[in-house]
Amino acid sequence: MNKINLLQMMVEKDKENFEGWYLLGEEYVKNDMLKEGLYAFSIALNDEGLNGLVEKALKDYFKLSKENFEVEIEEEIIDEEEAKPMKLQKYEVIQGNRQDSIIQLEDKRPTRVTFNDVGGLEELKKTIDLKIIKPFVNPSLFSKFKKKAGGGILLYGPPGCGKTYIAKATSGEINANFYSVHITDILDPYFGGSERNLHQIFETARANKPSVMFFDEIDTIGYSRSKSNSDLMRPLVDSMLTEMESVNTSTDKLLIIGATNMPWDVDSALKRPGRFDKLVFVPPPDKEARKVIFQLKLLGKPVEENLDISLLADKTHLYSGADIENVIEVATEHVLNEIMESNQERSIKMDDLLLAIKQTNPSTLEWINTIKNYIKYANQSGLYSDVAMYIKENL
Ligand SMILES: Nc1ncnc2c1ncn2[C@@H]1O[C@H](COP(=O)(O)OP(=O)(O)O)[C@@H](O)[C@H]1O
Ligand SMILES: [Mg+2]
Repeated sequence: MNKINLLQMMVEKDKENFEGWYLLGEEYVKNDMLKEGLYAFSIALNDEGLNGLVEKALKDYFKLSKENFEVEIEEEIIDEEEAKPMKLQKYEVIQGNRQDSIIQLEDKRPTRVTFNDVGGLEELKKTIDLKIIKPFVNPSLFSKFKKKAGGGILLYGPPGCGKTYIAKATSGEINANFYSVHITDILDPYFGGSERNLHQIFETARANKPSVMFFDEIDTIGYSRSKSNSDLMRPLVDSMLTEMESVNTSTDKLLIIGATNMPWDVDSALKRPGRFDKLVFVPPPDKEARKVIFQLKLLGKPVEENLDISLLADKTHLYSGADIENVIEVATEHVLNEIMESNQERSIKMDDLLLAIKQTNPSTLEWINTIKNYIKYANQSGLYSDVAMYIKENL
């Protein structure tokens, strides 16, 4: 799918996306589809803020045709080879004049989650701020020190501990559009289809910058090639690498975040410099985080007044967000059963929750035991040193 198709789709979906119409007009003109270009520009003119840009694009275009015309008169013969690069150059100028502050697409950020919604995990927030947010909002500082701001970030950690949630909150922090991509969104049975889909998603994110592209469970895309029996995913991994390398974080305003429960299964090609080269460990929620999760997940349920949330958090060391959700599920079920037996309605009490905690176990332990082996036998590069530190302090 090319840029024109993509923009056509965008304006079809939202006919009042005037910036979209403007960009489409530009693309048409670039491709010598003048009639279509003028039509698109005329719609873009509905937005007064775009008038100057449309005027400029048209002026540039007509100046160009005039020059071509003059060349024709003076020299009589147009040298095709010479005329072409000249034309190209001119169009580049048009593109260079694009003012990003004006070409901001409509705000499509419905529910913004920010770090304020993420309970606890202060260390992690600091790390993300330093490794992700600062380089993203301040690329010039990084280029001054010849430090690359590009590449992607890989969030890893046990399942259900908020990787997806935190990625979303990160995009909220930089006020960007959030594109969550899962392998099932991309996979296409037709040859080359998956790669095309992937490309399209990158193009969409670029057109709607600033954007965060979030690749959830990236191990399913980049499953270690050495471990995989089939080479089915290989073209997709290669496209992913190509797409990532084509991103210039500072000009594209495109941030790429991946997440995985199984960092050891992520194709090592995806972890090289310029790709998902910053690994960030998302640990099980700390006490503060568990308190917030309990509050969040109990919201709207009939619970006894003055629940001791702090005690619940104390008793759920190493529980993931999903485990806590499960604790509440178990307690709720228990209360419902009792109500049905006794025909007496009542709310969820502290004892129900404490009992549910006794009946369940933290699921993160299995993950921690697995990664322990990787740390022991394959941590030469200190890849998982954050985890090693966490284990030392918390287990
Ligand atoms: N620190 C946190 N603060 C608030 N909610 C959290 C936190 N950590 C996890 N959660 C909640 O736990 C659930 C599971 O998190 P999720 O992001 O889906 O985990 P993961 O992507 O790591 O598997 C989500 O519903 C999220 O709301
Ligand atoms: Mg997730």
